[in-house]
Amino acid sequence: MDKLVEKAWHVALKARENAHAPYSHFKVGAALKLKGMDEIIPGCNVENASFGATVCAERTAIQCSVANHGKTDFEFIVVVTDTDPATQPCALCLQVMSEFAHPDMPVYLANLKGVQSSITFKELLPNPFNHFEPNE
Ligand code: THU
Repeated sequence: MDKLVEKAWHVALKARENAHAPYSHFKVGAALKLKGMDEIIPGCNVENASFGATVCAERTAIQCSVANHGKTDFEFIVVVTDTDPATQPCALCLQVMSEFAHPDMPVYLANLKGVQSSITFKELLPNPFNHFEPNE
């Protein structure tokens, strides 16, 4: 396993411990590696009594990365749950990811034992919603 991916798995595992999941009891950790930056951004799911206001681990990491570093290209993301086989990101997270992820970006699916598999972003979401041209 690539040393950087292993490091990111540890970051995601630690973030997962902070998950606020009193309703589903399904804790998720994420770690986002940005291109050209050493820092690995952690994320965890943060549930809410309203249910609908719950934010997934992947989106927490994505939003932190934008808040801290602005718009950057993503190198890869690791997602950790306690399932076997490892769980893949939900469609909402993939749509949010599509703003910043190259189609070939690896998504590493991991559990408490380690990274179990890798899949490209485009395999998970081949056709993101993309009606508007970004105009910054
Ligand atoms: N969850 C994530 O954090 N990431 C996903 O990609 C799917 C689901 C969280 C949301 C909720 O807190 C719990 O898992 C159960 O759905």
